[in-house]
Amino acid sequence: LIVIPAVIDPHVHLRTPGAEHKENWETGAQAAISGGITTVFDMPNNNPAVVDEKTFYNKKQIIDEQLKKINIPLNYYLYIGATGDNEEEIIKLKDSVIGIKLFMGASTGDLLVADRTKQEKIFQLAAELDLVLALHAEDETEIQKQKVNFINPSISDHSKIRSREAAIQAVKDAIEMAQKYNTRIYICHVSTHEELDLIRTAKKTGIKVYAEATPHHLFLSENNYKYLGTLGQMNPPLRTTADQEAMWQAISDGTIDTIGTDHAPHTLGEKVKNYPDSPSGVPGMETVLPLLLNAYHENKISLEKIVELTKTNIEKIFNLTPNHDWTIIDLDLEKEVKNTDLKTKCGWSPFAGQKLRGWPIAVVI
Ligand code: DOR
Ligand code: ZN
Ligand code: ZN
Repeated sequence: LIVIPAVIDPHVHLRTPGAEHKENWETGAQAAISGGITTVFDMPNNNPAVVDEKTFYNKKQIIDEQLKKINIPLNYYLYIGATGDNEEEIIKLKDSVIGIKLFMGASTGDLLVADRTKQEKIFQLAAELDLVLALHAEDETEIQKQKVNFINPSISDHSKIRSREAAIQAVKDAIEMAQKYNTRIYICHVSTHEELDLIRTAKKTGIKVYAEATPHHLFLSENNYKYLGTLGQMNPPLRTTADQEAMWQAISDGTIDTIGTDHAPHTLGEKVKNYPDSPSGVPGMETVLPLLLNAYHENKISLEKIVELTKTNIEKIFNLTPNHDWTIIDLDLEKEVKNTDLKTKCGWSPFAGQKLRGWPIAVVI
């Protein structure tokens, strides 16, 4: 067995409070550690959304109770959501949050700031407070524009409705505003080669832009709708195999800084509804490391790079004091992803049935 620094997952939705039939911190923490993850950053699109002191401390209290019950000292940090008029609350919480989350396009939950003037204010505030601004970068206007063209859409239209142009436009806008206000922006779940080109160029000009890749955008493409159906539905959607290749290229040239799972569980019953009634999101914490270690065996990525993307780069971007948690891995263990083995409450994975080589065995927190 070998030991690597424990994985930090900078992007999860553990559903507390408001959607605990999908996940809570008892099942979520168990899923995290079975995935080799000992630190998570949780997103604010809860019910109620985490947008002020009250909702922030309430969420924290429930999380602590749940973690205590299972006796897992999972490290966690919380985002605060931007609403466009909660500046005062963000200021009050500036030392308690890992960053500000801004939805430029609507996704699960009701957090959305589509108005440019309001967006600019948030970019400015994040810069003033020296907080990372994490972006769900899909342009709402573009999405709405496409939506009307699809009368009776099916799952494969998801990638057209939430078009690549929507993602590209939002990233363009974001880079422009980051440059104007000197904001440190963290672009969640980059999915297209055009976004990567924009980010690559922006980095060269000294703009503080960081990019995250999800396992599903690295290991799945639009072609997988055929067998996944709405289990392959997430925002932003799966893209082409050319985009997938560009993602791997961007990992090797340093355009992509981190891997975040965007672990976004929904129950199977919810997921198998007919599109577009099916919710967007897939779980990912338990499969991210096996997928990466399997890719290592396929000579797609080095172990050093895996550690950068899942630990050291994240600590640098978010100014974390490096922790000394470890994950023990069996590089040669070959095992199929089985829904019945999963700890996540949702009980399914878009990678079920895949045989992967390289699995976490234990963590030390
Ligand atoms: O697919 C997604 N699911 N994308 C998001 O932006 C939100 C997430 C969720 O919370 O379900
Ligand atoms: Zn998102
Ligand atoms: Zn997310």
